[in-house]
Amino acid sequence: MIVAIDGPAGAGKSTITQQLAKRLRFAYLDTGAMYRAIVVAAMKRNTAWDDAAALARLAETAQIEFEGDRVLLDGEDVTAAIRVPAVGAAIHYVADNPQVRHHLVEQQRRLAQGKNLVTEGRDQGTVAFPEAECKIYLTASPEERARRRVEDLRRRGQTATFEEVLADQNNRDHRDQTRPVGRLCKADDAIEVCTDGLTPEQVLERLEAIVRECQTRAHPG
Ligand code: DC
Repeated sequence: MIVAIDGPAGAGKSTITQQLAKRLRFAYLDTGAMYRAIVVAAMKRNTAWDDAAALARLAETAQIEFEGDRVLLDGEDVTAAIRVPAVGAAIHYVADNPQVRHHLVEQQRRLAQGKNLVTEGRDQGTVAFPEAECKIYLTASPEERARRRVEDLRRRGQTATFEEVLADQNNRDHRDQTRPVGRLCKADDAIEVCTDGLTPEQVLERLEAIVRECQTRAHPG
């Protein structure tokens, strides 16, 4: 069974989908980490950001593996390297490239074979797994997402104003929603969950209930 969870940055997807996968005893796939790993691969090789064909070749040939919480790129642990701000700043070169997306979607389908999987990203229910038995669109208002992000940064000892974070987030949303291939949008048959005013535990319970319902629908009796 595939549970495809899409939604904008800052909706709380990663933490909650990981916990959901644990509860369900499903495998978990963080597809954002794959796009981030290709950025790291390009940085290591000094690939020019405007060389779309070279970026596509990287996505075709790079070995991205998940081992527990660790992300490996061609055998090397890049778990921390994919999270640095420079990767976020360059990610659009990779995520907006249709050929890169094609190769990564193929890898995502291969990784899903024969598994019960919770997969998270922007295009999982629309492009990668249109036949997924359960699709969830996880969102929150822009203000709530920016507020959470500011808190998150403070906890990590970094400072940013609400206005800065909101402006940056609006930019990211716009990019995610307007890229020619794999743009962020709710699949027609996805269930939308808005997390405004909900605790993480409440969101988790809501998602688990949705998956259970989808399971019953997919395998009645
Ligand atoms: O989920 P994240 O913030 O780690 O994702 C990193 C970037 O990758 C983000 O800018 C959106 C992009 N992305 C994508 O285009 N398609 C996906 N399936 C997952 C992430």
